[in-house]
Amino acid sequence: MAFEREKENAATAAIEFVEDGMTLGLGTGSTAKFFVEALADEIADGLVVRGVPTSEETRRLAESLGVPLVPVEQVDRIHLTVDGADEVDDQAQLIKGGGAALLREKIIANASDLMIVIADPSKQVEVLGSFPLPVEVTPFGFTITAKKVYDALKTSGVSRPRIDVRRGSGDKPLVTDGGNYILDCACSVIPDPAYAAELLSVIPGVVEHGLFIGLARTVIIGSDDGASIFEY
Ligand code: A5P
Repeated sequence: MAFEREKENAATAAIEFVEDGMTLGLGTGSTAKFFVEALADEIADGLVVRGVPTSEETRRLAESLGVPLVPVEQVDRIHLTVDGADEVDDQAQLIKGGGAALLREKIIANASDLMIVIADPSKQVEVLGSFPLPVEVTPFGFTITAKKVYDALKTSGVSRPRIDVRRGSGDKPLVTDGGNYILDCACSVIPDPAYAAELLSVIPGVVEHGLFIGLARTVIIGSDDGASIFEY
């Protein structure tokens, strides 16, 4: 996998934000995996924290490494969430959902006192949109919903969106942890992400979309020999 070292350095830098007694949102993906592994090492050395995983994949990883978890329904406060991103711009706006975990990721990030994004430099973009925007939709009526998603993206200024339902094994639509489908929306450029987010959010059948606007306050970009921390 590319950028292993950069991802690991970003994850290691995020450990500095973790304090004893915290409840932590644990992100999903290859960069977040490095964070969970680093956290497990700290826990083995005596750190006391508990985690709320943002996917079944992360739940399995955390359990296998001995990271204590708490059911999300029993949590009053999440102090910090550390998660990866598919794209991050210079206003800390994100595209997420490449790993199909965007719904739980957004619920947990939105409930957290602080969200830190950890990423390698390939995720930094001037304008969001090169990475196809994932939109999670109910299986019922998803072809109708896809047309509404197309219209919303056009209205927001995307010139020619192209929408595909994400496929899993056997060419069937991939089913998320929440039992939904993912529409991958190739946009090239999303000129007004906040407006696109607003329009997508009100479409019946859209469960959640991968535009994370105003959620990340700290972005850590790993490099070959360290990490840069940006505060917003
Ligand atoms: C999971 O649904 C995504 O939002 C991930 O956080 C995102 O795809 C980043 O993953 P990597 O760290 O593997 O690039």
